[in-house]
Amino acid sequence: MTKQPMETERSNPRHVLDRPLELPCGAVLKNRIAKSAMSDSLGDGAGNPTEAQGRLYQRWAEGGAAVSMIGEVQGDPRFPEKPGNLVLGAHSDTQAIQSLVNRAAINGAHLWPQLGHAGALSHLPVSRPKGPSVLDIQGLQCAAMSIEEIQELPGMYARTAGFAKNAGFTGVHVHAGHGFLLSQFLSPLFNHRDDAYGGSIEARCDIVLEIVGEVRRAVGPSFPIGIRINATDKLEGGLTEDDALEVVRLLGQTSIDLIDISGGTYFPGAKASSEGVANDGPYFLDFARRAKQVTEVPLMVTGGFDKRKQAVDAVASGTVDMVGLARAMVLNPRLAEVWLTEAGGDPDFPVFERPPKGGVTAWYTMRLTALGEDREDAFAMDPQAALKIYEERDEQRCIKWREKFSTTPN
Ligand SMILES: Cc1cc2nc3c(=O)[nH]c(=O)nc-3n(C[C@H](O)[C@H](O)[C@H](O)COP(=O)(O)O)c2cc1C
Repeated sequence: MTKQPMETERSNPRHVLDRPLELPCGAVLKNRIAKSAMSDSLGDGAGNPTEAQGRLYQRWAEGGAAVSMIGEVQGDPRFPEKPGNLVLGAHSDTQAIQSLVNRAAINGAHLWPQLGHAGALSHLPVSRPKGPSVLDIQGLQCAAMSIEEIQELPGMYARTAGFAKNAGFTGVHVHAGHGFLLSQFLSPLFNHRDDAYGGSIEARCDIVLEIVGEVRRAVGPSFPIGIRINATDKLEGGLTEDDALEVVRLLGQTSIDLIDISGGTYFPGAKASSEGVANDGPYFLDFARRAKQVTEVPLMVTGGFDKRKQAVDAVASGTVDMVGLARAMVLNPRLAEVWLTEAGGDPDFPVFERPPKGGVTAWYTMRLTALGEDREDAFAMDPQAALKIYEERDEQRCIKWREKFSTTPN
C-alpha cells in the first residue's frame, strides 16, 4: 500500500502533492498531479502530430505536471474517435512523433499516449463502427465484432504500445472508459455476447485483461502501463459500481501500474464528465475509497477537481494516489506548478448559459488549440462558435484521413 502522509503534512499542499509516486514497475511520477487524457484534436488529419500539439504538451511539462496523457491515440485507423487523433504504427511520420516526444518529455514529466479504439462510437465519416454487439438505437448503429476480430485486439494494442516505447514515450495508458470499445465490452448495455467475452463481469473484463497482459509482454517489466476505467457509465443498464469494483480487483491481479477512475459515456443522450458544470465535483471519490479496499495498485481519480484543497484532501486522506485534471489544465497549463507553491491559486471556471450539446467540450478543445498556438489571451469564443469551428475542422480532416488510410473497413 502507498504510505499515507503524516497528519502535519496535510495542511501543507506542497508536501502532499509534491511527493513522488513510485509505480509498481519501478518508474517514478515526480508529484501527484496528472494532466488527464484529452483528445486535443491537434493531429494533422493523417494521424501525425503537429507543431501546435508539441507546444501544448511542452507547456504542460514546463508547467509541472508529473504526467500528461495524450487522449485517444489509435493503433487501428479504422476506428478513431475523431480525425484529429494520432495514429501510431507503420503509417506514422516518425520525425513528427520524435519532435513531439522531444518537446514534451522534459522537466521530469512523463508523456503517455492513451491507447484508444472507439468501437461503436468510431467517427462515422471515416469508420464503419463495430462494437462487442450489434446496436441499433437512435443515433447509434454498429455491427458486432467477430471472435477473430476480438482476438486480434491484444496484438494490436501491444504493437501500438511497443511502437510508443520505441518512439520515446515514457508509458502508455489503456482507454477502457467513457463508452469507447473496451468500456463497451465491460458494459452490459453494449455487450450482449454469449461467448467467452460476454455475460458475467469476469467474462466482459476478459479482453481488457488479455490486452494488459499482451501490452506488458511488448513493453517489458519496467515500463508504466496505466488504464482508465469507468466507476459507472451513468446509464441505466450500464456498468454498475459493483461491477466496476470487480474490474479494479481483477486489474489488481495484473501488472498494471495505475488505475485512473473516471465515468460517464459519450453514448447519445448520456452525460459525459467533460460536460459537467463548475463546482459539481470532485466526482468518483466514494468509489475510489471502495476501490482502495480491493487493490494495492496506485489509484488516480479524474473529474471535477477545480480547487487545490480538493486535490490535497483526496491525496492526504489516502483516497487516491494521483489527481487527474483535464479542464483545469486547459484553463491554466501551469496549474501543477501553481498548486505546488505555498501561495496556490485556483482556476476560474467559465460558466456557460445553456450551451449546445457538445459545446462545452468543443469550447475546451478549441482552447487547447489556442494554447498550442500561444494565443489563449485572444481566445474569446462561446461554445456555439467553438462547436461550429470544431466540426468544420473535423470535416476537413476527414478528407485527409480517408486519403491517408484509404479507409475501407470490413
Ligand atoms: C476537450 C476534452 C477532451 C477529452 N478527451 C478525452 C479523451 O480523449 N480521453 C479520455 O479518457 N477522456 C477525455 N476527456 C475527459 C477528461 O479526461 C476528464 O475525464 C473530464 O474532463 C473530467 O475531468 P475534469 O473535471 O478535470 O475536466 C476529455 C475532456 C475534455 C474537456
